Amino acid sequence: MDLTERPRRLRRDGIRGLVSETDLSASDLIAPVFVDATTDERRPIESMPGHERVPIDEAVDRVEEIRETGVEAVIVFGIPESKDETGSRAWATEGVVQEAVRRISTATDAYVITDVCLCEYTEHGHCGVIEPDARADPTLTVENDPTLELLAKTAVSHAEAGADMVAPSSMTDGMVGAIREALDEAEYADVPIMSYAAKYESAFYGPFRDAADGAPAFGDRRHYQMDPANRREAIREVELDVRQGADVLMVKPALPYLDVVSDVREHFDRPVAAYNVSGEYAMLHAAAEKGWLDLEETAYEALLSIKRAGADLILTYFAEDIADRL
Ligand code: PBG
Repeated sequence: MDLTERPRRLRRDGIRGLVSETDLSASDLIAPVFVDATTDERRPIESMPGHERVPIDEAVDRVEEIRETGVEAVIVFGIPESKDETGSRAWATEGVVQEAVRRISTATDAYVITDVCLCEYTEHGHCGVIEPDARADPTLTVENDPTLELLAKTAVSHAEAGADMVAPSSMTDGMVGAIREALDEAEYADVPIMSYAAKYESAFYGPFRDAADGAPAFGDRRHYQMDPANRREAIREVELDVRQGADVLMVKPALPYLDVVSDVREHFDRPVAAYNVSGEYAMLHAAAEKGWLDLEETAYEALLSIKRAGADLILTYFAEDIADRL
């Protein structure tokens, strides 16, 4: 055979590592932590094997466990002791996230990110203030502008508690600008914002909604999260967040949206994060449990693919498991 090009030459041991284009390391990973104010013992999350909701008293231990694997950053989600119409426990000084973050930032060297949203705190489970008749009328939805002030208060309360970074996830128009302004005013100009910039209305969030108890009590999130059919729109969404001061741009979910991760990487010069969501985690676990897939190999390949598509950071429930191998 007269073959000049033989790509297989570079696939041999000894050289394959040298020419590898993508690296995955523990310092790319952010591990989600669920802190639950309604319990005083750890509770396993059934649809996310290996993950638990931990009481406030164990938040520090939980973060130490993660740090022992080499993962240095966590994103904290809270399950509050009570919910109400506007989600007021989201910005309470003694709220679950504020209390946990205060302890974690005092006792550990972890980089602490907080999820800024209202869905875990509102009785109706939506990510903001809802229109008065929304319960009865499915065409009604979250009111955008009144929600902004609540998100801003929540972000400031997280910064006060010691959060290193805030991550607004409600898909409210103008949320990044409102939060930036409030943080600056409260003298937290150094606290960066990782925006859930292109967040889709995805069925892959199912297990998370069990974990964080944040499923909408009626309707869905299609009026505020992005339509999975749209790719160009993601550029517009992300552009708006960049103009409002987003420091890190997140795409969510990750695996079914690698085209969007790649687009955001191409169009913007900011760090890109991708959220390998609960459903992406659960499906590999379910298949592995049946003996159909090798969990560690598929998880590693999935995370590598997310980096190859252009993500700098990955939020993932696999963080601890994979970090051990890196
Ligand atoms: C809060 C929020 C959600 C997730 C992260 N932040 C739920 C949602 O939008 O319904 C999902 C994360 C996951 O599925 O792992 N708005």
